Amino acid sequence: MRVGVLTGGGDSPGINATLRSIVRYGAKHDVEVVGFLEGWRGPIENLVQPLTMADVSGILHIGGTILGSSRTNPFNEPGGPEKVIETMRVNAIDSLIAIGGDDTMGVAHRLAEHGVKVIGIPQTIDNDIACTDYSLGFFSALEAITDALDRLHTTAASHHRVLILEVMGRDAGWLSLMGGVAGGADVILLPEEQFNIDSIFRQIKRRELLKKRFSIVIVAEGATPEGLGGHQVVDEAEQDAFGHMRLGGVGQYIANQLSERMHIPVRVTNLAYLQRGGCPAPFDRILATRFGAAAIEFVLAGTFDVMTALHGMKIESVRLGDALGKPRPVPEGLLYLVDLFE
Ligand code: F6P
Repeated sequence: MRVGVLTGGGDSPGINATLRSIVRYGAKHDVEVVGFLEGWRGPIENLVQPLTMADVSGILHIGGTILGSSRTNPFNEPGGPEKVIETMRVNAIDSLIAIGGDDTMGVAHRLAEHGVKVIGIPQTIDNDIACTDYSLGFFSALEAITDALDRLHTTAASHHRVLILEVMGRDAGWLSLMGGVAGGADVILLPEEQFNIDSIFRQIKRRELLKKRFSIVIVAEGATPEGLGGHQVVDEAEQDAFGHMRLGGVGQYIANQLSERMHIPVRVTNLAYLQRGGCPAPFDRILATRFGAAAIEFVLAGTFDVMTALHGMKIESVRLGDALGKPRPVPEGLLYLVDLFE
């Protein structure tokens, strides 16, 4: 049996560990694995590379993806789905494992409707894919954010500044909330709750009354200010193949508004791609290993159009159609963490 695998969308630490698991567990069950390069561009343009035990040796701890990634959408390309099917046919590939975020899962599901035997593995630092407790990469990004906040604390305290850390999180504030809690941010701003500059100002002033001479604000790139009609701050208006604009700049927006009133300096750090690169955290290495093996189990059982999912301690399959098109914000029950110590 021959299985194809690809990695699409924004990368995150733990993808290589997943590839390693797919190949190693596959080999145990006589499953040969073929990699498609550059996300969905691989099967569209027949960019293939065999993935052997030797190819995946020594990559458990390496971030990124040895297959490369892209935000290519076969449903945006003339004859895209047919090309994917043809590439699978000429390479004698029976089924396909797609590792990626909601866009990649969406393409996988649509291809399943075209008869492709496909399995998804949820991977995004944003942790915004429905029907799984965690997506691959989230905990690694959280580590980078926590480390950044630890570093910002020491310099903020030395210089008596307000330091703002902008993190990713387009529609869901998992990174900002959990990073903010882990790193002890004083103000936590998420896409789930519009922010108000006056109340950020008041929070910082309250700290000053307590003789705290610095403050740390963490803000998700997708957070929006009250009164601006829910418009996100956009870095690049051009849309990608899935219709997303590149977000960025909300930290600077807040800094500009605060600077007018604060008598201490306000500075911004955008963690950007530093939170997406680097080594996977142990949790992600384990999740990757379990997701990869589970995907091979699903292939062997002939269970397709599903995604691997973590439910408590268990890895289970969920229908791709059930996981798609649903927002996955931080649930109401966790939002108390935003102002726990206010
Ligand atoms: O993969 C999701 C994400 O991490 C978003 O939070 C962010 O908006 C996006 O990737 C940016 O990725 P890129 O610049 O690679 O398109």
